[in-house]
Amino acid sequence: MFKASRLGSVAMICVLMLMAGCGKQSADAPILIKFPHVTAPATPKGQAAERFRQLVEERLAGRVLVEVYPSAQLMSDDDSLDALAFGEVQMIAVSLSKLDRLTYKFQIFDLPFLFPDIQTVENFQASDYGQELLTSMVDRKILGLSFWHNGMKQFGGPVPMRLPEAAKGLKFRIMESDVLQAQILQIGGNPQKMAFGEVYQALQTGAVDAQENTWSNIYSSKFYEVQAYVTETNHGYLGYLVAVNLDFWNSLPDDIRTELASIVQEVSIWANKQSVSINLLGRQKILESGRTEVVELTADERAIWQQAMRPVWEKFSSNIGADLIAAAESYGNQAE
Ligand code: SIN
Repeated sequence: MFKASRLGSVAMICVLMLMAGCGKQSADAPILIKFPHVTAPATPKGQAAERFRQLVEERLAGRVLVEVYPSAQLMSDDDSLDALAFGEVQMIAVSLSKLDRLTYKFQIFDLPFLFPDIQTVENFQASDYGQELLTSMVDRKILGLSFWHNGMKQFGGPVPMRLPEAAKGLKFRIMESDVLQAQILQIGGNPQKMAFGEVYQALQTGAVDAQENTWSNIYSSKFYEVQAYVTETNHGYLGYLVAVNLDFWNSLPDDIRTELASIVQEVSIWANKQSVSINLLGRQKILESGRTEVVELTADERAIWQQAMRPVWEKFSSNIGADLIAAAESYGNQAE
């Protein structure tokens, strides 16, 4: 009863607004960029998105308005990929792992122990191989503008994971990626694909035993409160494709598109530097909390992990291309 009469009054207000011309977007209304993402505002991605919003407000005042929705408050990453493709949102920054359901092309970033550190990933992303990835989904209306880093991933769970055997039989939450699934199977674990927003509760209730993530995500999403150990494996990369809807991007006036592209590049440089200190701070805060034990690997233990994970590369080499894997590996060798 209440709902019907309330609906009636909402409809009446809309009719009145339309009659008064208020329902129309004025020709002078700013262009709206809705930018949903799933991490907390204090994370590398949260800070980068906010910096982007601020710079657009400063430099394109009254012409473009950015609305950032952090912490999955608008939608999950999976939903945001669909929403971007359909133009319901204009910009996203989704983990590269989650692009796996659209294309094999980003699988290289999930290969365990391929990239020894963030600088190596950055060199690879700046290469022709990396830059070609930005336009690899334009047939789906998704145009990449840049890459933002989060950081290297660590394993958290009920036991220290000094050696891969420790993972046997544990249920691991993973992102929606077949490479990550194979990675966990490779060490005898049981992978569970799950949205980021559900991980804390899944760890708390025992629906999963373990997870992999960066220091900043483990800290800001409080995973460290519900797992006894975090083992510092640095076994994989977590980063983002900053992407826009292709039709939206092409429809922008040239000067606005040029300014937005330049802001994205400026923010990327700033954010990718910041990501290192944000992750170090997260690690420090976790240590200080005393809520979980941080386990550091010896060089020998790390070598055993690397060896154990290597078959995952072979499994995906036909999808990714053996030449691409070799090229990425060569960037790591240069860094050593
Ligand atoms: C993110 O950093 O965007 C979330 C990654 C995850 O789902 O674990």
